[in-house]
Amino acid sequence: MTIPSKRVAVVGAGISGVVAAAHLKKEGIDVTVFERSNAAGGIWLYDERKPVEPSYSTLPISQVGRTHTSGHSEDLERLLHAPPGPCYVGLKNNVSTPLLETTLNKFPSGTEDFVTHDVLKDYIQDTAIFTGVHGVTQYDTEVTRVSKKEESWNVETTVLRSDATGASTRVATSQLFDAVLVASGHYHAARVPNTLGLSDWKTQWPDRVEHSKRYRKPDNAQNKNFLLVGGSVSATDIARELGPFANRIYQSRRNGKFDLPPNMLPENGYRVDEVVSYDAPAADSPISLDASEAIPATVTLKSGQKLCDIHHVILCTGYHLTVPFLAHLHSDQTPVDQAGDALLVTDGTQFHNLHKDIFYINDPTLAFIGVPFFTATFTLFEFQAMVVAKVLAGQAKLPSKEAMRLEYNDRVKNRGHGKAFHSLREQEAEYVNELIEWVNPDLEAAGKGRLNGHTDRWHAAKEKQMERLKAIFTAPREEKTFEITCS
Ligand SMILES: Cc1cc2nc3c(=O)[nH]c(=O)nc-3n(C[C@H](O)[C@H](O)[C@H](O)COP(=O)(O)OP(=O)(O)OC[C@H]3O[C@@H](n4cnc5c(N)ncnc54)[C@H](O)[C@@H]3O)c2cc1C
Ligand SMILES: NC(=O)c1ccc[n+]([C@@H]2O[C@H](COP(=O)([O-])OP(=O)(O)OC[C@H]3O[C@@H](n4cnc5c(N)ncnc54)[C@H](OP(=O)(O)O)[C@@H]3O)[C@@H](O)[C@H]2O)c1
Repeated sequence: MTIPSKRVAVVGAGISGVVAAAHLKKEGIDVTVFERSNAAGGIWLYDERKPVEPSYSTLPISQVGRTHTSGHSEDLERLLHAPPGPCYVGLKNNVSTPLLETTLNKFPSGTEDFVTHDVLKDYIQDTAIFTGVHGVTQYDTEVTRVSKKEESWNVETTVLRSDATGASTRVATSQLFDAVLVASGHYHAARVPNTLGLSDWKTQWPDRVEHSKRYRKPDNAQNKNFLLVGGSVSATDIARELGPFANRIYQSRRNGKFDLPPNMLPENGYRVDEVVSYDAPAADSPISLDASEAIPATVTLKSGQKLCDIHHVILCTGYHLTVPFLAHLHSDQTPVDQAGDALLVTDGTQFHNLHKDIFYINDPTLAFIGVPFFTATFTLFEFQAMVVAKVLAGQAKLPSKEAMRLEYNDRVKNRGHGKAFHSLREQEAEYVNELIEWVNPDLEAAGKGRLNGHTDRWHAAKEKQMERLKAIFTAPREEKTFEITCS
């Protein structure tokens, strides 16, 4: 199947959107990038402001990432239009820069393997400038709805404009495209656990219970006790940031398949069991607390143990995968294993019906960059972008819908559902080879240059990373115990 496309919309100017637009431009395709922030960079754009908290009562997944409302104060209006991301002051890359360097741009010579977030933001923004992507990006522009109008995609947007007095107005526009590339990232819709008593704690002490997306720096952590919920990277990394300042840090995890080992926690960090309830405070407990006072209530763990004297709870519980501007492809009521052939999102743990995590099988003129997990992100997303550009330029053919469906069904059978569905842990190079082996024969037949796979430098850096991870995961685990008496 061929799907040549002259005009393509790209949603998002993080690394995925920038590499996608750059490769489309290289193929001579007319590209427009829509970015709701005022700059490129996505996750790596540090913003001192904190995003608005998600709802702590159960909300349908399709609503969690929706921000488009009006009638608020100017500041709130801006926060909702382009929500600040999860980047915090101390954030560094955990995948080395040689693994992240794309073919489009080099890191400045002398760049260390692990750098602060601004180096990665600069890299993405420089790449956008060198490749001309910056010039075709409409900033401050939120994509609110993408729908099919006959043979075209209608992309509806809202632009937030500010006048000289700082007053903002929203301007709605819509444009037609032959294809749409979704590169909007998956760390927007914060996941809040549905744990007993949590929403009551949030209501009572709103500044003491927050999602990790709002964490910025270890300010005022001195002598405080923290409960970090989640067993993955945010919980571990934020624990390490708080470690030198805090009194005690509890990390609660539920023994997930992707949990990081406890030896990554700081000296004063302790692994604890899953939280089953945030208990009600005693009737005479103070409602407003001084900064130094702990929350006057206990937390009960699955083991029956109680924790007390906690000053702050940070929910490092990850994000829902959502595409709010494709609401017609969401179904909150449908169980994840019954998505059928059309839906894209059900419970927010995965996307459905994408060929190789990229092309929407029912209509491959809708495609996604940046879906797989546990990869070297930037470079992996660039390979996806190269392949999409070749397909949309009409140089490479997609398999028939039936063949894509068969391959997809096989993948579901082998991988099951949920987060693991998109994991490329230890399969990243194989996935890239698969992409390249699929398009190269078509490129050769069309008299075009072949795509090359990862470089030797990338493979060497990957090897180094695997050794680093192996050392972390196989290091001796010392069970740390702690004393706690809750009245
Ligand atoms: C805290 C954190 C740390 C991370 N650290 C690492 C790391 O060390 N190494 C690593 O390899 N990966 C890391 N990642 C993964 C990271 O997500 C990728 O590295 C990469 O930056 C993702 O790029 P992206 O372009 O796909 O998404 P994003 O960077 O999220 O960019 C998406 C863009 O789309 C825009 N957008 C979203 N919705 C709309 C809309 N409706 N209309 C218009 N624009 C929209 C957003 O504003 C954003 O600019 C980290 C992720 C997080 C959350
Ligand atoms: N560069 C860095 O240093 C850095 C720092 C922070 C984040 N990151 C990146 O940011 C991305 C997001 O990481 P993340 O840690 O925020 O999210 P994540 O990897 O999705 O992890 C979320 C964690 O929360 C747990 N969880 C989810 N729902 C829960 C519930 N109801 N109750 C208890 N636990 C629950 C999950 O457990 P289950 O597995 O059991 O679901 C998992 O341990 C990743 O790509 C990560 O690499 C990088």
